[in-house]
Amino acid sequence: MKLPYAEPYRMKMVEAIHTSTRNEREKWIAEANYNLFNLPSSRVYIDLLTDSGTGAMSDRQWAAMMTGDESYAGALSFYRLKEQVEKIFGFEYFLPTHQGRAAENVLFSALVKPGDIIPGNSHFDTTKGHIEYRRATAVDCTVKEANDTRLELPFKGNVDCNALEEVLRSHPRDKIPFVCLTITNNTSGGQPVSMANMREVSALSKKYGVPLLIDSARFAENAYFIKTREREYSDKTIKEIVAEMYSHADMMTMSAKKDGVVNIGGFVALRDRELFRKVSVFSIMFEGFITYGGMSGRDMDALAVGLDENTEFEQLHARISQVGYLGKKLDEYGIPYQRPSGGHAIFVDAKQVLTSVPKEQFIAQTLGIELYLEGGIRAVEIGAILADRDPATRENRYPQLELLRLAVPRRSYTDNHMNYIAAALKNIYDRRNAITTGYRITYEAPIMRHFTVELAPVTPKI
Ligand code: F0G
Repeated sequence: MKLPYAEPYRMKMVEAIHTSTRNEREKWIAEANYNLFNLPSSRVYIDLLTDSGTGAMSDRQWAAMMTGDESYAGALSFYRLKEQVEKIFGFEYFLPTHQGRAAENVLFSALVKPGDIIPGNSHFDTTKGHIEYRRATAVDCTVKEANDTRLELPFKGNVDCNALEEVLRSHPRDKIPFVCLTITNNTSGGQPVSMANMREVSALSKKYGVPLLIDSARFAENAYFIKTREREYSDKTIKEIVAEMYSHADMMTMSAKKDGVVNIGGFVALRDRELFRKVSVFSIMFEGFITYGGMSGRDMDALAVGLDENTEFEQLHARISQVGYLGKKLDEYGIPYQRPSGGHAIFVDAKQVLTSVPKEQFIAQTLGIELYLEGGIRAVEIGAILADRDPATRENRYPQLELLRLAVPRRSYTDNHMNYIAAALKNIYDRRNAITTGYRITYEAPIMRHFTVELAPVTPKI
């Protein structure tokens, strides 16, 4: 008999979480104005809001924290992290930041100006936010197959290179500060980008003289998919694959809260000295001195170890297999989701579940609220609320996909939790035809509204 996968670690410490009653949850979600971000975590049983900063650190990471050097300038922790970044990604220049969006802020302050165009694959919302805030435009060139959740393809995060070339060809060089490649492609379902696609994107960027930036939040999961799905890489180690991936890039922004398996942290890494000098000014202005950039010494040490550990096959195999296990449970119940299951999350296809809720009433958000009411599970909407309004027309943007993301934190939950989540979704799926109305917005911020939006049921729930 083939032995099943099992985690390459055991538990040394646990944290209590609590169930609640449906009555309690009805009251709590109303108090939160039907925005799951507004719930105190004590009111959530299983938290799938994000896999960002929510993973469990290893004993080696906790031990490394004790060696943190908190010097304002030149901390040894900085040099240890810098060395690890150079070893893993091959970039000589490195600036720590407090998280991924801070890396975007620091780098884009030096590179993006009004009227610029930044092509890429489903730019993440903070990335797009930092582009649009600077009155530039993000152009999505993701392959169109990503919009069909039923298609079972290995690399649905890829860039459509014809679309990319069209953008590169039709704009002057000085209007395109960089191409932004997101790995894995979070917004389209944690879907990976193949090495072949990276090579092609890199070649096109070079042809048009445009630098290539990799938004790297889930780079290690992407490398895992390259190893397991792209035949010529099956014998390579994750670290070898990562090194090749980054040989194609000129710079990277990193949210270390995902594949760095730390609770906070990020960085910018570069090859160009002049650009490094320019970016350093913004690091000092927004983040802190260039050798800590908003991170404490102990956090930099935890990250140096996290990057090393999480670029090992065993870790990634257990983590991605757990996400796959949740996907298989949903298959058993016939619940539709973005196929194949993604690296960090399952993205339930809310449009195919709640077929009677109009898009103007926020289909994926409605499903998210139902899931909370059913089982105290907190997921996140990747739909019309997140897509926000068009910056020019201020009209709501209704994306083709309405997804409910179930992001699985690293090393935090067991497969029993996955069974519980799947059962809660099945109960909703069984009564899906009775759910015909959704929610309307009562308050929204002018940018990135999903974090603070307030909603009310379209017809009061009985
Ligand atoms: N890029 C990608 C692809 C991301 O997924 C995120 C964050 C960021 C950049 C920004 O990093 O949060 O450290 O500032 N994604 C989180 C998520 C929030 O839930 O997917 P950050």
